[in-house]
Amino acid sequence: RFTPTPEDKFSFGLWTVGWQGRDPFGDATRAAIDPVDSVQRLAELGAWGVTFHDDDLIPLGSSETEREAIVKRFRQAVDASGLVVPMVTTNLFTHPVFKDGGFTANDRDVRRYALRKTLRNIDLAVELGATTFVAWGGREGAESGAAKDVRLALHRMKEAFDLLGEYVTEQGYDLRFAIEPKPNEPRGDILLPTIGHALAFIERLERPELVGVNPETGHEQMAGLNFPHGIAQAMWAGKLFHIDLNGQSGIKYDQDLRFGAGDLRQAFWLVDLLESGYEGPRHFDFKPPRTEDYNGVWASAAGCMRNYLILKERAAAFRADPEVRAALRASRLDQLARPTAGDGLAALLADRTAYEEFDADAAAERGMAFEVLDQLAMDHLLGVR
Ligand code: GCO
Ligand code: MN
Ligand code: MN
Ligand code: MN
Repeated sequence: RFTPTPEDKFSFGLWTVGWQGRDPFGDATRAAIDPVDSVQRLAELGAWGVTFHDDDLIPLGSSETEREAIVKRFRQAVDASGLVVPMVTTNLFTHPVFKDGGFTANDRDVRRYALRKTLRNIDLAVELGATTFVAWGGREGAESGAAKDVRLALHRMKEAFDLLGEYVTEQGYDLRFAIEPKPNEPRGDILLPTIGHALAFIERLERPELVGVNPETGHEQMAGLNFPHGIAQAMWAGKLFHIDLNGQSGIKYDQDLRFGAGDLRQAFWLVDLLESGYEGPRHFDFKPPRTEDYNGVWASAAGCMRNYLILKERAAAFRADPEVRAALRASRLDQLARPTAGDGLAALLADRTAYEEFDADAAAERGMAFEVLDQLAMDHLLGVR
């Protein structure tokens, strides 16, 4: 029970279990781990996929021959473990050259370097079988007003995604992009700060069909937003190409807790939502706290998957409960599913019961019965039903 298998489609970034615990105030608390060891360990724990930034696998500055040897060794480890590489991403934030951004750096030569670094990594992603390419623009932003002309920066951001789209189209690659929003950290303010900003941006691109979002639980919650609501809108727009699952407690620095820690109720509604129609990877982007040794790291990784599976069981029990079904009807969720004016505008205008004869005061007296419904959810979440 609650034992993950590859069918669950759980994936992890090399940079998550491989995080050494360096933070703005303290040095690393854990030794570096060989990506090949991470692959083996994740497979043993029941994961399905492994993901990485170019630099997680291939240290920046490696020669061509070194790069080939590293990729070959990694590929053999992935194949031997039975894992897949569903997603790859580019590091455009660690090297000091990206201090003012990658695709939107004021320096044009830095932008051209960022694009070339990304294009080269796209080739590697496709070579390893990835079909999603995540783009987290952590350094695309500013700390002060005049430093960034946001409209120009968005032109440059669009230019970058248009070029990337042109490249995969010309190459005939089966690869889609997923933009990861974040409101701040490491920049004071980051461009495309929320799911909503990213969705609006995507519609301005030359090939919007190639670009979706990769929302991260904690990032929306850092902005005080309801993560399941944001995910629902991304699903509604057909843009949930990938997801970063983790935990966050309220509006503060990016905690990257294991999935299920932080806001447990939002985690419950999120799993309920994902299980209703999202087919993609369940990707964990968390940071095992720097208090942990490697036992703690693997316990944290296992906890992400275990919590997802527990919440999946709880959500399914909630949906299957006859009392819940009755409560949903009492709260008129079935009415929400009906078009408001399915017989057209003229019929709405001609319907006297819709306005002239409508008794708004009587309708206002109807309770919505949401508290009964929510307590049923709480009982299921807490495991007492
Ligand atoms: C964060 C981000 C990063 C990105 C990852 C992909 O926590 O600020 O989630 O972890 O997801 O680096 O580029
Ligand atoms: Mn994060
Ligand atoms: Mn992330
Ligand atoms: Mn992260």
